[in-house]
Amino acid sequence: MKAAIINQFGEAEELQIMDVSKPKINDQQVLIKVAAAGINPVDTKVRAGTSGMSKIIKLPAILGWDVSGIIEATGKKVTGFNIGDSVFGCIGFPGPGNGYAEFAVADPQLLAKKPYNISFEEAAAAPIVGLTAYQAINEELKITAGQKILIQAAAGGVGHLAVQFAKMNGAYVIGTASDKNERFLKSIGVDQFIDYKKKKFEEIVNGLDAVLDSMGGDVLYRSLSCLKRGGVAVCLPSSTKDDPKAISLAKKYGVKLTWPMMHTDNGQINKIAEMLEHKEVKVFVDKIFIFDQIAWAHKAVETHNTKGKVVVRIN
Ligand SMILES: NC(=O)c1ccc[n+]([C@@H]2O[C@H](COP(=O)([O-])OP(=O)(O)OC[C@H]3O[C@@H](n4cnc5c(N)ncnc54)[C@H](OP(=O)(O)O)[C@@H]3O)[C@@H](O)[C@H]2O)c1
Repeated sequence: MKAAIINQFGEAEELQIMDVSKPKINDQQVLIKVAAAGINPVDTKVRAGTSGMSKIIKLPAILGWDVSGIIEATGKKVTGFNIGDSVFGCIGFPGPGNGYAEFAVADPQLLAKKPYNISFEEAAAAPIVGLTAYQAINEELKITAGQKILIQAAAGGVGHLAVQFAKMNGAYVIGTASDKNERFLKSIGVDQFIDYKKKKFEEIVNGLDAVLDSMGGDVLYRSLSCLKRGGVAVCLPSSTKDDPKAISLAKKYGVKLTWPMMHTDNGQINKIAEMLEHKEVKVFVDKIFIFDQIAWAHKAVETHNTKGKVVVRIN
């Protein structure tokens, strides 16, 4: 089968499409004929060798966690999934993924049936950002009706789903992006749009209940000043975890700050599937690349200015 392999950590060009043997499953696993793979910032950081998770990767490696596809084979002890089922999920996380390949092995606990009315590309785009946004809004920030939340990078992969989950809970949502994304953000429910390139958000909003920050550093410091005392903030980039300046500012403002790590959850991936099927949320796919162009898909994510998600079509 064809797979995208890295032999060493480095630039996107390290991703080479090669012929490798088809993986084998054990009794508890399923084999997926991969239709599409979603590309996340974490994929690019692991490939570059700059993520803490790079340490768990044994080279040469096939990367890739977010996939959609069709079940090709099931282990003897697998229940709930059959050959021919269309599925999606975040496979392997937080261990190594193996999704950049024509066939991938998965633990069925990490999968949900693909909604019949969304494409394989949309399904592959959803798992990591869906779980991250869902957990940030519902587990960490516990957003309830009437609360005001500032979502940084609201047009990004995590941001655009966080906006929709916060709106489902009845929140007033302030979202930042550049002007090209204003219409998009309003279309998914943002109540107040702030163009971060032209305006200082901290001079516009204050007394907020919650902040979801996808940036860290200066954006996080300024975001903390927008919270009311007792407000809560989550910051997603793990490279900024435990930033002493942010911790000291959080103390000064009397707010709670955490750096949560996305975790896989069978109930939540199935809930996300249900919400996608019922059109309660929509995952927006910005760019689709063919498998041979996977390095370009990584480069697109590394620009940090994509709207929604980047996906690679594999089979
Ligand atoms: N802790 C975890 O478990 C976890 C899970 C998932 C993701 N993450 C991390 O969270 C971060 C975001 O992930 P993502 O997938 O959402 O990223 P992404 O899709 O690549 O984000 C792109 C978006 O960022 C916006 N942006 C860039 N600079 C901005 C700024 N200064 N202010 C506001 N918006 C800005 C861009 O909007 P414009 O184009 O309009 O500028 C673009 O829409 C990454 O660092 C990722 O590694 C962590």
